[in-house]
Amino acid sequence: MDHFIYRDGALYAEDVALAEIAAAVGTPFYCYSDATLTRHFRLFQEALAGLDHLICYAVKANSNLAVLRTLGALGAGMDVVSGGEYRRARAAGVPGERIVFSGVGKTREEMRHALEHGIRQFNVESEPELQALSEVATSMGATAPICLRLNPDVDAGTHEKIATGRKEDKFGVPIARAREIYAQAARLPGLQVVGADMHIGSQLTDLAPFEAAYTKLAELTRTLRADGHQIIRLDLGGGLGIPYTRSNETPPLPLEYGALVQRIFGDMEVEIEIEPGRLIVGNAGVLVSQVIYAKAGEGRDFLILDAAMNDLIRPAMYGAHHDIVPLREPEAGAALRPFDIVGPVCESGDTFAKARPMPPLTAGDLVAFRSAGAYGAVMASEYNTRPLIPEVMVKGDQFAVIRPRPTFDEMLARDTIPRWL
Ligand code: LLP
Repeated sequence: MDHFIYRDGALYAEDVALAEIAAAVGTPFYCYSDATLTRHFRLFQEALAGLDHLICYAVKANSNLAVLRTLGALGAGMDVVSGGEYRRARAAGVPGERIVFSGVGKTREEMRHALEHGIRQFNVESEPELQALSEVATSMGATAPICLRLNPDVDAGTHEKIATGRKEDKFGVPIARAREIYAQAARLPGLQVVGADMHIGSQLTDLAPFEAAYTKLAELTRTLRADGHQIIRLDLGGGLGIPYTRSNETPPLPLEYGALVQRIFGDMEVEIEIEPGRLIVGNAGVLVSQVIYAKAGEGRDFLILDAAMNDLIRPAMYGAHHDIVPLREPEAGAALRPFDIVGPVCESGDTFAKARPMPPLTAGDLVAFRSAGAYGAVMASEYNTRPLIPEVMVKGDQFAVIRPRPTFDEMLARDTIPRWL
């Protein structure tokens, strides 16, 4: 459920008409709903109620400081994968002891910065990384709390590009070698083993892969404890999927996911962390765009929008589906007509949807891409020298620009001409 609904024939974000925001900030823009963000975060809290837990929001899904501050104020921890994301989490007011540092290629500089400014744990993904972290921590006279990220060799059954838990994927250490690598970690100075971590992929629409991976993790935890390691914390990663179409998708609910977690880990006396991104913010955001032209092609009709692949890359990159709806509610029973919905960027990959049945639409009309709050703005680029589009947050009847559209002068001023030119 989200808070983008038609009211009196117009699409609203909570109590603000999206057309009103469009008039104020221009199109295209991203718009997020505070109430939806809050609701989704609370669903996870309810799902894990009774367990000692921390929900570490995956910052990569949407890293705007206003989003992070909203979630941080609700008690969220943060899962970060770069020095930049770490700085964002801290700038949003999240204390170091609630920040988990994940990622397959942390640099020594990033490790040092996090150790200096406070960190809950590093999720370490390889033996060389263990070695590097041990060296950095000892050189600072510090101790780095660590979980090892385990690769369980489980297929998440999701898109090829976002599956992370199979043995051929670059992530984690093979679970079969876990005991040996834990022994190595325990011997290294400057490290303190606190637990274990997994993340098997994103947009999972079935609980079975979670069950397979978590069962392996619970088993391994018993073995590691018997080996004498202190496993006080298990990080279960993120990955729970969301419905991208209104009609026929019913991915498992946080409550069902929580029941699985409770069943597998409930009696293990262990603190549980999860790292959801998409489920919290995905359906809490829309991308609003205007039709520039309706163009009749050869055997097909195009809607050419002012948003493009550089603003929302998911359709071009993963063949992802986003519902696209007009801001003016179509009349009941309005005839639908297929359109190819495209952006102005100069490649055919800049296609959002092919032969998508749409109500009557013409130049000047506004549309909203649904489910655009996760992996939307954060994956945007300035390809074709298109400015990064603004982000807006709505709360009740108020809205605020939480990142303005840059001017062309600002964009051009970032380049410098070498002195020989
Ligand atoms: N934890 C780790 C270590 C991750 O790598 C990820 C996502 C998450 C948590 C959050 O997963 P979520 O709950 O959002 O599924 N750009 C792609 C998704 C990439 C996901 C990468 N890792 C997309 O647009 O579908």
